[in-house]
Amino acid sequence: MKIAIYGLGYVGLTAAACLTSEGHWVLGVDVSERKVKEANSGKSPIQEPGLEDLLSKAVAGGLLHCTTDGSQQLNQCDLAIVCVGTPSGVDGSHNMTYIAEVSRQIATAVDPKRQTPLTVVYRSTIRPGTIEELIKPIFESTLGKNFSCIELVYNPEFLREAYAINDYFNPPKIVIGTVDSLPNPRMEELNKNIKAPVFYTKYRESEITKFVDNTFHAVKVAFANEIGRVCTQLGISASKMHEIFISDTKLNISPYYFRPGGAFGGSCLPKDVRALQYIAADVGANTRLIDALLRSNEAHKHFLYEQVTADLPPGGSVLMLGLAFKKESDDLRESPKVDMARKLLNAGYKLSIYDPYLHPQQLIGQNLGYSFLHLPTLPDLLVSAETIATQTYDVVVDMSGMAAGLTLNCGKLLNLDRLS
Ligand SMILES: NC(=O)c1ccc[n+]([C@@H]2O[C@H](COP(=O)([O-])OP(=O)(O)OC[C@H]3O[C@@H](n4cnc5c(N)ncnc54)[C@H](O)[C@@H]3O)[C@@H](O)[C@H]2O)c1
Repeated sequence: MKIAIYGLGYVGLTAAACLTSEGHWVLGVDVSERKVKEANSGKSPIQEPGLEDLLSKAVAGGLLHCTTDGSQQLNQCDLAIVCVGTPSGVDGSHNMTYIAEVSRQIATAVDPKRQTPLTVVYRSTIRPGTIEELIKPIFESTLGKNFSCIELVYNPEFLREAYAINDYFNPPKIVIGTVDSLPNPRMEELNKNIKAPVFYTKYRESEITKFVDNTFHAVKVAFANEIGRVCTQLGISASKMHEIFISDTKLNISPYYFRPGGAFGGSCLPKDVRALQYIAADVGANTRLIDALLRSNEAHKHFLYEQVTADLPPGGSVLMLGLAFKKESDDLRESPKVDMARKLLNAGYKLSIYDPYLHPQQLIGQNLGYSFLHLPTLPDLLVSAETIATQTYDVVVDMSGMAAGLTLNCGKLLNLDRLS
């Protein structure tokens, strides 16, 4: 294919070099005359292992031409990939000036009567909503509503500097946002030599992916360092701890505890997090991330409560499915569902609870104490499957994945065990 690449930085130049190595012809566009000149002479303006080798081969083979003005040759291209910078603005948001500038340049240069649309692929990191709220309006203002000479795609980049070429051909995944979430033939062609799971999504899902990934990487580093500080202060080997931690691919480095849905609770997690917070404070380890966990969890419990009550005035009837901290358990200690029940009762909702694993007369010890302290009327709230089948509820809230198999008559069924 003939591909224009806007922005010859770490992302754009790597893409240019890798695409030419696959036989594509690339038009590189950058505002920096120095970068353009160096790239045209087969030199890399940035330090990246293997990049200069690919660039010099591309130039020698006539597959790479760079310019500060791509407008003349843009219409010969099948694809344009936008890799310009999106640096932090003063308020912390991304500065979208370069994205807007390039979009306007492409909109002005494209032939509105093109036979096949130019696929414009944004690869820079952009905030969710940018395609629909900034980029599309720029094209509309130049080309009119319902323009057909351009198709917009978002395709985040996952490469790491210093491993960029290897990462380009071996990404962890390929995420492609399209107007209809459907596969795009040009993108299939572009990625045909790359083996990785492919996700076609709506624009916004693809746009947020990079933020989620990078924030998680930051969480991992901060968490590892907080644990490292606690261990160091306690005279425990941080590297041994790391070795033991990452060896657990069943619960630690695994998809467990990752699904957006219920808050954490039960007899272990809140208690042990609280205790580690205490230990860390005691030895001066200053664990800001760990200290924020319980507050984050409380915020989530309240978010879930607001999901239930959003369109329901007090006095409405709510059936909760599940009360114990997890399905098939009768442990109520620090169950987030007990908090939900308490909040609903306090606000004046008519509450019923279904949990077939829970028998108040069998609760003993701390479990009994906790449940009666937080929900003194628990026995009156519990209902059976048979009762549920004969009643109508305004809202049924599935907190534990228990709705299947029940006969439910309700205005709204909410699954809070798994956010959709
Ligand atoms: N660097 C990475 O490892 C990496 C990884 C994944 C995603 N990203 C994202 O990709 C984007 C690009 O990152 P980068 O590190 O390659 O940036 P960079 O700053 O190295 O390169 C951006 C290039 O865009 C050029 N540019 C600016 N305005 C232009 C215009 N109007 N026309 C043509 N060129 C223009 C600049 O001169 C510069 O050469 C960013 O959004 C970044 O967040 C970066």
